[in-house]
Amino acid sequence: MEKNELRFKGKKILQDISVKERLQIEAKMQESLFKSEIWKSAHVVGVTLSQTHEWSTEPIIEEGWRTDKKVVVPKCIPESREMEFYHLEKYDQLERVYFGLREPKPESSALVKKDDIDLLLVPGLLFDDKGYRIGYGGGYFDRFIEGFRGKTLMIASERQRYTPLPFEEYDQRVEYVLTESGIHSTYHF
Ligand SMILES: Nc1ncnc2c1ncn2[C@@H]1O[C@H](COP(=O)(O)OP(=O)(O)OP(=O)(O)O)[C@@H](O)[C@H]1O
Ligand SMILES: [Mg+2]
Repeated sequence: MEKNELRFKGKKILQDISVKERLQIEAKMQESLFKSEIWKSAHVVGVTLSQTHEWSTEPIIEEGWRTDKKVVVPKCIPESREMEFYHLEKYDQLERVYFGLREPKPESSALVKKDDIDLLLVPGLLFDDKGYRIGYGGGYFDRFIEGFRGKTLMIASERQRYTPLPFEEYDQRVEYVLTESGIHSTYHF
């Protein structure tokens, strides 16, 4: 199956999860994440601001704040399809940009270097056992993960597992996937 077809499939899977199931899955994901060494040992955590159809990241951002982590969130640069991360201390540092996306306002938050990020939480539509993924098609995460030295962990439900996924030379693998059944490491596959 082609990437675009898979992207459609992934979106459909997310849409078909009921509100009740969604909350149950998110509760299990958060429990596994917060008790993990990967989370506990990270001082600087990169995370996206989820949209309504995505796995909610607010509880993760707020747990990060509660446990004195530095939470950093991306701003996309459409011209180069790159991302820059800014330190988020409170939600009023955000603004609504295109497609209803929330991004940090560069004038009210500090830029954080890629090398300073310990753990990057990666969104996406589908994943496979090797950590290949189908994202939203912009290549933003593929570009960012290339040369990134911290840990990468994708957040997805077991229903979004689809092995094997097609990949190209620029596609980057994530090291871990967090699902409702726990944290799965992918590099040994
Ligand atoms: N490191 C890179 N350098 C140049 N182009 C890249 C790089 N990574 C991805 N691309 C380009 O980005 C486009 C989108 O890639 P792809 O379809 O794999 O997106 P995706 O993995 O779904 O998106 P994302 O990484 O944002 O989740 C491709 O056309 C590809 O050519
Ligand atoms: Mg890709």
